[in-house]
Amino acid sequence: MEITNVSEYEALAKQRLPKMVYDYYSSGAEDEWSLKENREAFSRILFRPRVLIDVSNIDMSTTVLGFKISMPIMIAPSAMQKMAHPEGELATARAASAAETIMTLSSWSTCSVEEVNSTGPGIRFFQLYVYKDRSIVRQLLRRAERAGFKAIALTVDTPKLGRREADIKNRFTLPPSLTLKNFEDLDLGKMDKTNDSGLAAYVAGQVDCSLSWKDVEWLQTVTSLPIVVKGVLTTHAARLAIEAGAAGIIVSNHGARQLDYVPATISCLEEVIKGAQGRVPVFLDGGVRRGTDVFKALALGASGVFIGRPVLFSLAVDGEAGVRKMLQMLRDELELTMALSGCTSLKEITRNHVVTEADKYRLSWLSSQI
Ligand code: FNR
Ligand code: LAC
Repeated sequence: MEITNVSEYEALAKQRLPKMVYDYYSSGAEDEWSLKENREAFSRILFRPRVLIDVSNIDMSTTVLGFKISMPIMIAPSAMQKMAHPEGELATARAASAAETIMTLSSWSTCSVEEVNSTGPGIRFFQLYVYKDRSIVRQLLRRAERAGFKAIALTVDTPKLGRREADIKNRFTLPPSLTLKNFEDLDLGKMDKTNDSGLAAYVAGQVDCSLSWKDVEWLQTVTSLPIVVKGVLTTHAARLAIEAGAAGIIVSNHGARQLDYVPATISCLEEVIKGAQGRVPVFLDGGVRRGTDVFKALALGASGVFIGRPVLFSLAVDGEAGVRKMLQMLRDELELTMALSGCTSLKEITRNHVVTEADKYRLSWLSSQI
């Protein structure tokens, strides 16, 4: 089958991956309401295109934390990529570099920060899970710095792992042939098989669920890298993140894998941006599968988006080439959306190019008053 859009990778990946792995990659928490909503909320946003504008030259490049990238589409951290493909995170890193965009490496990658660095130049962020043993965190940050990572994405929505029922049924665990490579030398690279999700047990054992906003300040004393707070959904949290010194915010519900019944991230974006008051860039992840989704996020004020599951599924189907093609399809779709909306650069994408549900209610109320 010829793949013509990003979502089509999922069905192919499902055929190729062991059930335990596919289920882990694809599932959301509990009823998976937020998982569905992450996609559906995009479909409720409509366009107001501008026409007869010269779109012969379209520039999609942008700058993130001072780093120039070719498009506002970046790679979100997702754990354990060697379960998808033998080259794992190395393939993803190469594909991101080829696309001149940012890759975020998960703390729980199956390739180490040093191995990823050895793939060659690239702008990379390191996603951090804070261990109870803070000396592990210090060590890991130092290694990420030395390996050339440019920022830390601190995940703030995972004091405990969300309840993913497929993982419980499958007794999910990292296959014994693989390790959480960054933790191998600390004897924390393996995951036990338990009568539950092995990952949930690992999180309960290692992740510091006492983490609080003051630790964001502490982190800045142990790393020189800028900290981007990943997992913000409200104005309040955005304000606290900025007060704590965050250099950026990612509106994320962790791909709907943590707390179920949180709104879709695209529905939270404007409120978070209000909280950020233009002081730091705000990014979004969750359910981005089309160039039109990227455009919608930018129109509502995002500085860029991150992609999660499509990276894993395209990696499973065709390794580095799959991830490259997936990124290229999103790039092409964004370019086309910009052309058909009358935008030649990202700064020309405005709030007026889209209509949200809230706008529709306001418009119908206004017209009822006339
Ligand atoms: C994730 N995500 C994630 N986030 C994080 O901060 N650290 C991690 O290790 C992981 N691991 C992970 C594994 C898998 C299998 C998935 C699907 C997701 C969340 C990820 O960074 C991102 O927030 C979402 O995946 C974005 O949503 P979409 O694009 O998958 O809909
Ligand atoms: C997950 C963790 C690893 O979502 O972030 O599975």
